[in-house]
Amino acid sequence: MLLHVPEVLTPDELRQCRDLLRDAPWTDGRATAGTQSAAVKNNEQLPSRCEQVQALQAIVLRALERHPLFFSAALPKRIFPPMFNRYGGTANTYGPHVDMAVRHTAQSGVRVRTDVSCTLFFADPDEYDGGELEIDDTYGSRRVKLPAGDMVLYPGTSVHGVAPVTRGHRLASFFWIESMVRSDEQRRLLFDLDMALMRLREREGESAEAVALTGTYHNLLRMWADT
Ligand code: NI
Repeated sequence: MLLHVPEVLTPDELRQCRDLLRDAPWTDGRATAGTQSAAVKNNEQLPSRCEQVQALQAIVLRALERHPLFFSAALPKRIFPPMFNRYGGTANTYGPHVDMAVRHTAQSGVRVRTDVSCTLFFADPDEYDGGELEIDDTYGSRRVKLPAGDMVLYPGTSVHGVAPVTRGHRLASFFWIESMVRSDEQRRLLFDLDMALMRLREREGESAEAVALTGTYHNLLRMWADT
């Protein structure tokens, strides 16, 4: 499932993030790539231990925690500490690649299975040309370029890349979720059921049917979740 999650960051948080990103110590992004992806990766990233990253991570993680749409879609068990990248100038693209299935966090060594990939945008689409996130999914290739503060979720299994940025800079955070529900198909069913239930409640309030379907949601989650 590919999902656009709007307004993850408030305007104030977005401003704080952009200030932190402006003065940050950008370095070659190939440092964190695997062998296949290093060959096609040409961007800049922030080192995980710099002070700006600590502050940025706190803002992003706090924003994710309060976002019901993110929770419903990802059903997070573990979140890989968000990383930050920049595309522009001569470091402006990332060819088609697949993310590693398991990532170790630098700080704690905790392993995270990359069920869901996330990209959170810090630059608005009119600030740069190109830079679309290109994701191959079951229905063909999708090109994603979202307003600053918005995020896209997509399956960690997808081949994806970032088109060359030919003007300006594309700033983003990227990270992975190990979900309580490993299967993309099962997560999708739960998400659809949850969204339909929300609309049902908005229209008709609490009803015996809504209660019964909520029970079905939780019973499916109980069957599939690994906590
Ligand atoms: Ni990737």
